[in-house]
Amino acid sequence: MSEEVKILAIESSCDETAASVVVNGRKVLSNVISSQIALHTLYGGVVPEIASRKHIERINQVIEEALLQANTTLEEVDAIAVTYGPGLVGALLVGVAEAKALAYGAGKPLVGVHHIEGHICANYIENLDLEPPFMCLVISGGHTHLVNVTGYGAYEILGRTRDDAAGEAFDKVARAIGLGYPGGPKIEAKAKEGDPQAIAFPRAKVADGPYDFSFSGLKSAVLNYINGCRMKDEPYNEADIAASFQQAVSDVLVEHAMRAAEEHGVKKFAIAGGVASNQTLRKAFEEACKEKGIAFYHPSPIFCTDNAAMIGVVGYYEYIAGVRSGLDLNAIPNLKLGER
Ligand code: KG4
Ligand code: ZN
Repeated sequence: MSEEVKILAIESSCDETAASVVVNGRKVLSNVISSQIALHTLYGGVVPEIASRKHIERINQVIEEALLQANTTLEEVDAIAVTYGPGLVGALLVGVAEAKALAYGAGKPLVGVHHIEGHICANYIENLDLEPPFMCLVISGGHTHLVNVTGYGAYEILGRTRDDAAGEAFDKVARAIGLGYPGGPKIEAKAKEGDPQAIAFPRAKVADGPYDFSFSGLKSAVLNYINGCRMKDEPYNEADIAASFQQAVSDVLVEHAMRAAEEHGVKKFAIAGGVASNQTLRKAFEEACKEKGIAFYHPSPIFCTDNAAMIGVVGYYEYIAGVRSGLDLNAIPNLKLGER
């Protein structure tokens, strides 16, 4: 093995076709993302079959571009890492089939990677001092997980959402107030013009799960508020709704996560996933961690939303731990964190 371990990583679990070359799990040589957002915006959300079709159209060019930008070739990489779950099955299959073909053709080892593990490990890219153990709150479109990262590849889930994921709540509320897809960035932009204290939306607790989350009540409260205004023929302020909703999500996430961090005596706390790119949320965590003397970590927005660099990071740590996937690797749409 050469001193430098170079991983070519592929990610296609949802609506981004992405490829990246990562050295030694920390240095990103290229990070190419072909987004389908404009296409899915026409339908108000991700259409799985369209996502798969676009992946198969673009994946070869995206990989070529990633190798080119990294000034390397397929022959020079040590292994090929690919997301094999969780995600949309048809979308995952494109990346998995591509990675298998490349691994077989070039005679390279194949490493299957868990998408959520990728989100968590995105924190390693820009924080070279960050090593386990730390606590991480994963807030994406499909997942809300509070996780103790006890080692590389070792996770203990402390809490999760009982219903909607945090990002899903952003997307649904955005649709309800007519902002469209993708909801998160649109709510964040709209909220800048609004008053976060204008409407008292609920901050839900889950009775038998101190670290669990629930967002469906909050989503219903927003819908009820809008319907109430409509029935009374009263105007409603979209910016105030967006700001008050965002504040409610932020309060719940920060409160639950910080309580868990204190109770577990953690010294390092990280956020990850698409929702972690939200600036209001990031600032709230920054302040809460500072107050408690906990070091706070977060990826840059480009490494929060789906990308292949984060898959390359996990791929590296798995590769050096001796993990290899067979050419029978399959997509697992509901793959659980910590499972193989
Ligand atoms: O991690 P991600 O890119 O994909 C999944 O693995 O799900 O997360 C996408 C989610 C979407 O629900 C999107 O609305 C949300 O992240 N999101 C945001 C922001 N940017 C993306 N939510 C709040 N504020 C943002 N700025
Ligand atoms: Zn994701």
